[in-house]
Parts: sequence; structure tokens; C-alpha cells
Amino acid sequence: MALSKLIALASFATVVFAIPIHHKASTDELLFVQAVWRHGDRSPCETFKTDKYQEDFWPQGWGELSALGMAQHVDLGQTLRKRYIDELKFLKPEYDSHEIYVRSTDFNRTLISAMSNLIGMYPEGASIQAPTIPEWPRSASGKFWVPIPVHTLKDDIDHTLNPDHDCPRQADLWKKVKRSPEYKQLQHDEADFLSYLSKHTGMNVTPAYVENIADIIFIEKTNNLTLPDWVNAAWNKTVTVAERVVQINDIVEGYINGLGLSPINGTNMAIEIPKLRGGELLWSIIGHMQQKWACHQDPNSADCSYFNRLKYYAYSGHDTSIAALFGTLGFSRTNYNEDGYPHYSSCVTVELWRNAKTGKPYVKFLYLPLVKGRYHTEIEDITKDITGGPITDIDSLAKRSQIYKPVPNAMELCKTRL
Ligand SMILES: *[C@@H]1O[C@H](CO)[C@@H](O)[C@H](O)[C@H]1NC(C)=O
Ligand SMILES: *[C@@H]1O[C@H](CO)[C@@H](O)[C@H](O)[C@H]1NC(C)=O
Ligand SMILES: *[C@@H]1O[C@H](CO)[C@@H](O)[C@H](O)[C@H]1NC(C)=O
Ligand SMILES: *[C@@H]1O[C@H](CO)[C@@H](O)[C@H](O)[C@H]1NC(C)=O
Repeated sequence: MALSKLIALASFATVVFAIPIHHKASTDELLFVQAVWRHGDRSPCETFKTDKYQEDFWPQGWGELSALGMAQHVDLGQTLRKRYIDELKFLKPEYDSHEIYVRSTDFNRTLISAMSNLIGMYPEGASIQAPTIPEWPRSASGKFWVPIPVHTLKDDIDHTLNPDHDCPRQADLWKKVKRSPEYKQLQHDEADFLSYLSKHTGMNVTPAYVENIADIIFIEKTNNLTLPDWVNAAWNKTVTVAERVVQINDIVEGYINGLGLSPINGTNMAIEIPKLRGGELLWSIIGHMQQKWACHQDPNSADCSYFNRLKYYAYSGHDTSIAALFGTLGFSRTNYNEDGYPHYSSCVTVELWRNAKTGKPYVKFLYLPLVKGRYHTEIEDITKDITGGPITDIDSLAKRSQIYKPVPNAMELCKTRL
């Protein structure tokens, strides 16, 4: 008696638990996905005078994607495939030119990252269209692979995906940051440390230059190169020089994104700087969702022939691109809830869904950070942490994002000097 009661209870509990999950997965409709990722592992972009590993040490020179970087992006592509093709059955299993659009900044490493990502996402390419000639590359299963287009535009005018686009107004803001009490305090407190670094690197090391040193040390360590003694030395009883470099870098990367600064002459840097670095990207993402939703409501409207079929839009960028986007989401740290910049091949996806019950749209921001140097096994829903929320739909997202909107657009706003 007691046992059957228990079984009945247990199966009741299972049913109650199973219904909402099943219901949601089978009826809410995914309408549009956007992805923003950082390129994979790369060589340093430059180095200091005294470094024994100069440009000719690195196989392709400065700032180029490595084989590991390509593998990281194949993994990210496979992870995206798992979610959007295998599990959600959102995109076709093979590449369809109407469904996807991929755009990259104009760097070798971001372009090749996008191409590597698409090898992971579409391992079979679109086999019918490939030339069946012996010299053509094949997928692991023996099918003929096809190349998938990646679009780009000149870097200095890429106001959407390159936070360091040509922007005089941003340069003015940075000058203000350098005159801020926080920056000056850092310069003052770290004067001894900065002159130690200057002496050993042969460079004039400012707080901003520490970012380069941190990057170079990180990469040389990752590549198992021998670091000079002055890097491994203890700075004081608790930190090594290398550790202090990371700590200062974390602070400076915050300042570059307008974080950790009190208002300067009434200007809130945590809004004005993200607006110029990430505002255009945030609003590009919002704009695509607004258009997709409008076309979902009225598929016959004039501008919808392209958007009706488009389902996936990817942006291949940099650590700075994701950090800038995070700035416009109101996060108080440069890597969502951590200091430092997002790691290689980390990715944010933005999903537009239609609620089956209410018929209304809702939006989800997911973060897929790099895990164990190579993988993307964690997917974190970060929507709840966006400031000015709750973000329930496109309208509430657009409303809280007004303050980060470059008006009339980034290119024009950048010309307005301070
Ligand atoms: C791309 O690679 C070429 C050499 O193949 C190099 O000259 C160029 O500087 C690289 N550019 C960028 C932006 O990565
Ligand atoms: C703030 O305004 C004052 C007066 O106009 C100016 O002297 C000062 O340089 C400004 N501060 C910054 C950090 O721009
Ligand atoms: C560096 O050394 C570690 C530990 O021996 C190894 O796992 C890793 O593959 C090496 N990295 C490179 C780039 O050779
Ligand atoms: C070592 O330096 C760090 C960074 O300036 C500081 O936070 C820490 O208190 C110092 N430790 C000692 C023992 O002086």
C-alpha cells in the first residue's frame, strides 16, 4: 500500500516536472540567432624592445591565428551546431546561403576564425554544390566540403565590430580618462612598478602599455617559452611581477571601457565610452531582431524578402568587441562577472524567441566562454544580469538600451568632439 502510494507520488512528480520542459521545447519558436565571438589563439600583436622573441620567431608574424586558434573555433562551431542544428533543429544540417550571414573584422585572425568556425558548424558544407574533383578537400565522412562566405569591411570604418574604429570623440574621452583622479592615482601608486617595467622592457611603460606586456607574457607562457627572470621575480612578499602586471591590466582594461571611474565633469564614462565602443554593435543586434519580428508579423512587407529566410547572423571579432558589448549591457566587469577580457573563441549568442502561449517575442543572451583552453561546454544565460531589466522582449531591451545608442550613428557621433 505504502509502496504503491510512493510509486504513484513519484510518477506524479515526474509528470509534473516533464510537462513544462516538453511543452516549452516543442512549442516556443526560435526565430533568429546572432553570435558574437572572439578569434582563437594567436601570436602577440607586437612586443617590447628587449624581448628575445621578435616577429620572425612566430610562424606567420604578429597577431596571426595559430593552429590551436583554429581548433578552438572548430569546437565553437561544433557547439553552435549542437544547439542550433541538432537539438533545436533551427538551421538546416547543411549550409544554405539564405539562412546565414557571417561578418568579420578585417583581420587575418578574425577571418580565419570565422572560416574555422564554419568548418565545425557545417562539416558537410553543402555537398551538392562542391566540385567533385580529386584535389578538392573532403569532410571527415568523405563528402566534398564547400567554402562558406565571410564578409568584411575596412577596419577603420568598422564602427560596429571594431571598438577601436577611427573615432575622434573616443580619443577625446580617453584623454579625459588619462586626466581622471583614478588614472592619475594609479600612475602615482605604481610609479616604481612602471619604471621597473620600463627599465626591463626598453619601453616607456604607461598604465595603458601594461596591456601589451600582459598579453605578451600570457602568450609566451601559453607557448611554453622561457620568460626572463625579471618577469618571474617577486615584486613584493605577496605578488610576482607577472601577477602584478595582470592586476594592473585588469584595472586599465576597465578604464578603457569606462569602468571604475567616477563621473568626469558630469560625464558618466560607463555610458559614454561603451556607447562609442559597443553601442553600434548592440543596436545592430537589436535592429536585426526588430526587423525579424516585423517580418514575422507581416512577411509580405517590402523589406522582408531577405529577412524572412535569414535565421543566423554571426560577428567575428575581438576580446574588445565582446567587452564593449558587455559594457553596453551594463556589466560592471569587462568579462561579464570577471576582470580581464573574454578569452579566445568565447562567444555570446542572442536568441529571439516567440512565446507559444502569448504570441509575444522574448530575448535571451547566452555566454559560451572558453573552457579548459579548447572547449565550449558551458552555456550561461546572462539575460538576467543586463541592467535596466527585466528584459522581457525586444521593446524592453530597446528601451533600456537607448542610453547606449550612438545618435544619429557612431560615424557621425564620433565627429562630435569634446
Ligand atoms: C594579413 O596577412 C598578411 C600576410 O599574408 C599581412 O601582410 C597582413 O599584415 C595581415 N593583416 C592583418 C590585418 O592581419
Ligand atoms: C573639467 O572641466 C574643467 C573646467 O572646464 C577643466 O579645466 C578640466 O580639465 C576638466 N576635466 C577633465 C578631466 O576633462
Ligand atoms: C606546453 O606545455 C604543456 C604541459 O607540458 C602542454 O600540455 C602544452 O601542449 C604545451 N604547449 C605548447 C604550445 O607546446
Ligand atoms: C604587494 O603589492 C600588492 C599590489 O600593490 C599589494 O596589494 C600587496 O598588499 C603588497 N603586499 C605586501 C606584503 O606589501
